[in-house]
Amino acid sequence: MNIAVIGSGGREHAIAWKLEQSELSDKIYVLPGNGGTENTVDVDINDYDMILNFCRHRTIALIFIGPEDPLAAGIVDYFADTPVKVFGPDKAGAQLEGSKIFAKKFMQKYGVATGAFQEFGRAKKDCCQQLTIFPKDTIKKMNGNCVIKYDGLAAGKGVFVCSKEEDALAALDEIHSKYGEDASYLIEEKLVGDELSILAFTDGEDYQLLLPSQDHKQLLEGDNGPNTGGMGAFCPVPFYNEELKKQIENDIIKPTLKGIKAEGFNYKGVIYFGLMITETGSKLLEYNVRLGDPETEVVLPALKSDLLKLILSCFDGTLKDYKMEFNNGFFVDVVLVSGGYPAEYKKGIPICGIKEDQELIFHAGTKKENDRILTNGGRVLNIVAHGNMLNEAINKAYERVNDFYFEDMFFRKDIGRRKKN
Ligand code: GLY
Repeated sequence: MNIAVIGSGGREHAIAWKLEQSELSDKIYVLPGNGGTENTVDVDINDYDMILNFCRHRTIALIFIGPEDPLAAGIVDYFADTPVKVFGPDKAGAQLEGSKIFAKKFMQKYGVATGAFQEFGRAKKDCCQQLTIFPKDTIKKMNGNCVIKYDGLAAGKGVFVCSKEEDALAALDEIHSKYGEDASYLIEEKLVGDELSILAFTDGEDYQLLLPSQDHKQLLEGDNGPNTGGMGAFCPVPFYNEELKKQIENDIIKPTLKGIKAEGFNYKGVIYFGLMITETGSKLLEYNVRLGDPETEVVLPALKSDLLKLILSCFDGTLKDYKMEFNNGFFVDVVLVSGGYPAEYKKGIPICGIKEDQELIFHAGTKKENDRILTNGGRVLNIVAHGNMLNEAINKAYERVNDFYFEDMFFRKDIGRRKKN
């Protein structure tokens, strides 16, 4: 089977790498891909006519969508009448990530454990004659200790975790200046605890879970500094156990699946549960409708089962009985980023240390030019290692990091070393 993977990050490199190992896969194309992916095709991933044309010419039977934007824009609906299977939810289902207000209301409607919230902005005004609650009063009542989320897709830049009133007011100003005075947003209870990422494959009825992982979103050690697309990840997570799994399934995953069915979403894809494990149980922070990045770069190496067979089982009704098998030990991913990221950074810098057939090195912001690999983005390379124990995997990952260099290269030194682990 020929497959097209859509996207250009470390996640898509890892997906293509894992799909290549399947006995059912033939040629795997990555659109548009990066300097590390093979069979890259330079297409505009928002031009569905062009993608369909490409699929016809290359007899592509399956498209795996990496990022959220094409899903939110309705790529699954576009391909619905074609013979090409597209792995991901339809436009209606993708609202679970595309609109934070839609997602919170969905959680409330189907009894998914989550924190308290208030919605503000255009969406609220449209449904209520009079706006009776003012955001500044809500912020004051919470002493500024809250999370403010822009309603729409914002590539990780629409979430503000605030501790003081002035931070929260500054967040409101930023949302209004970026997205307009009538932008819709949420003010949420700030949940405290340990974050956990749970990724599930679903056919809209049943689900199968990958191993639990944690990412490190902030730029600096100790979870300080600005938010990024992700500075590293590891899996599995040592504090995850059967009891916690059961609670997450009962309070979050099963009610979500019930909601997906009840709403009639066409959902054959991945659903990502971004959780906070609090003292009063696990609560859902957010859904993503795709694999996480950089979580994918550790959870796919940890998956022993055939990824392509797992995906196909979501289409043919056999997911429920699919046997999930995992590799033993731990996987750690240290992300090498361009100096200055997540703000301004240079591109086009030569990267030293890249060799042919390096296992578990997943490219992100790289490009190939005259046989050289150059930086081409903020997050550049994912350096992944495996160990029997978490510490061993961490040490091996950092040893591997020493093999790579580019001007102004930066990385966090504490991936996998949160106290609880
Ligand atoms: N790691 C979080 C995300 O992919 O959005």
